[in-house]
Amino acid sequence: MLSASVTIDPAFVVGPVRPRTFGSFVEHLGRSVYTGLHDPGHPTADADGFRGDVVELTRELGVTTVRYPGGNFVSGYRWEDGIGPVEQRPRRLDLAWHSTEPNLVGVDEFVRWCARAGVEPMMAVNLGTRGVQEALDLLEYCNVAGGTEWSDRRRANGAEEPYRIRMWCLGNEMDGPWQIGHKTAEEYGRLAAETARAMRMVDPDLELVVCGSSGSQMPTFGAWEHTVLTESYEHVDHISAHAYYWEEDGDLASFLASAVNMDHFVDDVAATADAVRAAGRHDKRINISFDEWNVWYQQRAESRPPSGDDWPVAPVLLEDRYNVADAVVVGNLLISLLRHTDRVHAASLAQLVNVIAPIMTEPGGRSWRQTTFHPFALTARHAAGEVLRLAVDAPVQETAKFGDVPALDAVATHDPETGGVVIFAVNRSLTDDLALEVDLRGFPGLRVAEAVTLSNPDHTWSATADDATSVLPRTNTTAKVADDHARAELPPVSWSMIRLERV
Ligand code: AHR
Repeated sequence: MLSASVTIDPAFVVGPVRPRTFGSFVEHLGRSVYTGLHDPGHPTADADGFRGDVVELTRELGVTTVRYPGGNFVSGYRWEDGIGPVEQRPRRLDLAWHSTEPNLVGVDEFVRWCARAGVEPMMAVNLGTRGVQEALDLLEYCNVAGGTEWSDRRRANGAEEPYRIRMWCLGNEMDGPWQIGHKTAEEYGRLAAETARAMRMVDPDLELVVCGSSGSQMPTFGAWEHTVLTESYEHVDHISAHAYYWEEDGDLASFLASAVNMDHFVDDVAATADAVRAAGRHDKRINISFDEWNVWYQQRAESRPPSGDDWPVAPVLLEDRYNVADAVVVGNLLISLLRHTDRVHAASLAQLVNVIAPIMTEPGGRSWRQTTFHPFALTARHAAGEVLRLAVDAPVQETAKFGDVPALDAVATHDPETGGVVIFAVNRSLTDDLALEVDLRGFPGLRVAEAVTLSNPDHTWSATADDATSVLPRTNTTAKVADDHARAELPPVSWSMIRLERV
């Protein structure tokens, strides 16, 4: 048995728990929208054709914001195709995913879906094939009350009140050579700055996200952020970060340490933003919108788009089946995001339904929760108040990709109103239980309210429509508090949540 000790103290505050940390992402890609969110023939469908079961699961997941409509898709998207009478909307080639886009869902339907699901929309504009004018048109359609061409078109389409969307992404992954309309950092930085400046003339209260890197492995990482922010610093609020992790060559130890990469990524982007701040004598700080993150098995066949003459509507694409180890990594990535709550002001689990998603659906049929659903839902529901920095003393384990990493990773939140403390912890060991001891002398008089652990002797177990419940987070009966110390045993390859309340 390994052992690790942690000290927490109410004074070690990193920053507030931000609701926007628990955002997600819906792209017109594969079955994310069509037969995912939207399935008019489904028994639970509403007047717009949106599935009620998926809305319920989205609420249970605790998602706060949803980024839309892409992703790579947005870089070739004409948003006007998605408004007005559905039967008159054009079908278009979606070059990003080699599919046909029927435009049955557009901005009006999406905003109505957000209201139903109780989430804040986060809109992306096309800066791949389009530019400042089209971004302004969409903003006018969404946020201007009335009396102009586009705002009156919205009203004519049934939305009398403006949508008042606050968060806007200035394109998507413009550093990626795969992106339609891919640009150099200089080209994109100028375009983003000009788009942001014009958008603020319409609505000064917007929060604007400029594209950072598509991953820290990109050859332009660092230099891209520096150049783009040098061009756009005063006009934007956040810089995006995207990261996907996957098990390579069966190297589970490295995979379980994926959050180490996320930690470095955030630290490096924040440092670069601060360097631009210093050089430009700027007052404000640019924070991070980690608006695509997840585990993604990119080498699997389901991740390959169709080709040739085949341009299907809503093909099966990126439908990863997540196992228990994936869920442990997702829980650990959330620990990393919370730990950086001082600089990560928004994040989006990519994606929400069917496409690398915690929620799966059958067309016209059942829906179910993947393993990754559980750590996300529990963290979103119970992380509250302030994030605390922990002092951790844990054994290290060797990984091929990240060198020696701590076997334990953890973060805690403290709600000053209730006095409650929640500890989120991962045991990265492949083989050993870990005895966790938490020094709570800074929080006298706590007891265990709930302790759950997600693990399974077979960490490759995945949920299916037929069996989504054999492996769920289970009560961890070893969790106890005595002498102002919490103790619990964490099995190998596990994610846990220990909720402590005032006696
Ligand atoms: O989420 C899937 C894809 O990953 C998105 O379209 C793109 O932005 C990223 O490369």
